[in-house]
Amino acid sequence: MLRVVVCVSGGGTNLQAILDAVDNKTITNTEIIGVISNNAGAYALERAKNHNIPGILISPKDYADREAFNQAFLDKMDELAPDLIVLAGFLVKIPDAMTTKYSGRIINIHPSLIPSFCGVGFYGLKVHEEALKRGVKVTGATVHYVNDGMDEGPIIAQKAVMVEQDDTAKELQQRVMEQAEWKLLPQAIDDIANGRLEIVDGKVRRK
Ligand code: GAR
Repeated sequence: MLRVVVCVSGGGTNLQAILDAVDNKTITNTEIIGVISNNAGAYALERAKNHNIPGILISPKDYADREAFNQAFLDKMDELAPDLIVLAGFLVKIPDAMTTKYSGRIINIHPSLIPSFCGVGFYGLKVHEEALKRGVKVTGATVHYVNDGMDEGPIIAQKAVMVEQDDTAKELQQRVMEQAEWKLLPQAIDDIANGRLEIVDGKVRRK
């Protein structure tokens, strides 16, 4: 069984997609052992509670400085000892000590086709606002491994989504979630849980 910790900051629709996929066995060999949020008001914590999964709050606001927060975050993760960490709308930069220690065991979902509209400052609705500003006709979502960079690790999977004329950022965000994110992330977890992926020369291959 792959033991998974999901990290969240907000609504948690991606978390919900994962929980549903475990329930209906779209994801197999996987147990969600905990949900970590940096935000006390995250509805994702409610979703965890409704599923009888421990929800853990670790907020930078409760620590003297970033270093103290990073250490507490790493300590909590070590206590949970997951096989895989899934960032599902987690808007905190993962400390370098964690990416090093859990190298190849952290994945993230990003709401664009990386390398477009990613990196520092590109998160949540902002990504879709920038895509609309640029006038792209196709966008999408990406699941990737996490390294020390921002949205730079090896790409696991991507799915394209059409931009419709006169889309608002919220409409586009919803379409990208429905057509791409809620499918890609559960699929990637199932692939990892069942040993279907490997990294060769910095790129992800299906075995
Ligand atoms: C999702 O669209 C996710 O791709 C994005 O935040 C949203 C969280 O929604 N993540 C990033 O932008 C990371 N850079 P959710 O809480 O409903 O899953």
